[in-house]
Amino acid sequence: MVRPIKTAVFPVAGLGTRFLPATKAVPKEMLTVVDRPVIQIAVDEAREAGIEHFVFVTGRNKAAIEDHFDKQFELEATLERRGKTAELDLLAKGLPRAGQASFTRQQEPLGLGHAVWCARQIVGNEPFALLLPDMVMHASPGCLRQMMDVYETHGGGNVVAVEEVPWDQVSRYGVVGATDWQDNAFSITGMVEKPKRREDAPSNLIISGRYILQPEIFAEIERQEPGAGGEIQITDAMIRLMAQQPFHGLRYRGTTYDCGDKVGFLAANVALALDRPDIAPGFREALRKILSGHEEI
Ligand code: G1P
Repeated sequence: MVRPIKTAVFPVAGLGTRFLPATKAVPKEMLTVVDRPVIQIAVDEAREAGIEHFVFVTGRNKAAIEDHFDKQFELEATLERRGKTAELDLLAKGLPRAGQASFTRQQEPLGLGHAVWCARQIVGNEPFALLLPDMVMHASPGCLRQMMDVYETHGGGNVVAVEEVPWDQVSRYGVVGATDWQDNAFSITGMVEKPKRREDAPSNLIISGRYILQPEIFAEIERQEPGAGGEIQITDAMIRLMAQQPFHGLRYRGTTYDCGDKVGFLAANVALALDRPDIAPGFREALRKILSGHEEI
């Protein structure tokens, strides 16, 4: 039987230096896309895919994330007194149930692989999902839900979501090689983290920030020497695990917005606002006006 994926890990220890001064006192994962913090978008995607345990790998100055996934007694009491049921429902929907959220800290910024490894005691010997919250996936059904289907169809293993990008962008990401395509899914033949030269990249399919991983990844991370950027890379640990276990890729149906980047973050705001029936008409109008005043762009 395929072991179900019930736990998701969210690495949220990054400093957000690309968004200063906004991220001086506010964690970058709390920046909002329309009215939802980036981290909540990832948690909602995980919940939709059947995740029941949300594990956050945080760092110093990230307390707001923990508060966000707790009750806010004063606020809720006030909303109740005022009969604001829509707002109360909205808060209730986003809240993990008691005991469903766990927090641990990455004490030093040693890389993404190391951040994931910090969750090993909480995850235990179970397969898990890994979601990088900076990458906002605009998809329906959600990206992780689409990956769960691949996981179940193949009877388990590891799954990595990918997206095709222009060749001049591949050096910013992890890149995979693909074979045996079936519809949008394929077998991964190799991976390279941030290839410096175009000829080092096996394709222009980038690792877009959603993974389903078997727990043996933790032992591989532990053996991993620092890689690209002097950091312990999850991609390098996956390359080692590939020698023992199957890795499937999925070119998921949807669009990724890299919210670790200013342009990606702004684009996510526009795309998600245009999808919201409550604000889209007014926003469309405002956008039209702005664009017509910037004809030189
Ligand atoms: C990480 C991964 C990389 C992936 C990227 C997606 O890199 O190491 O393989 O393509 O996330 O955002 P980072 O953005 O942490 O440098």
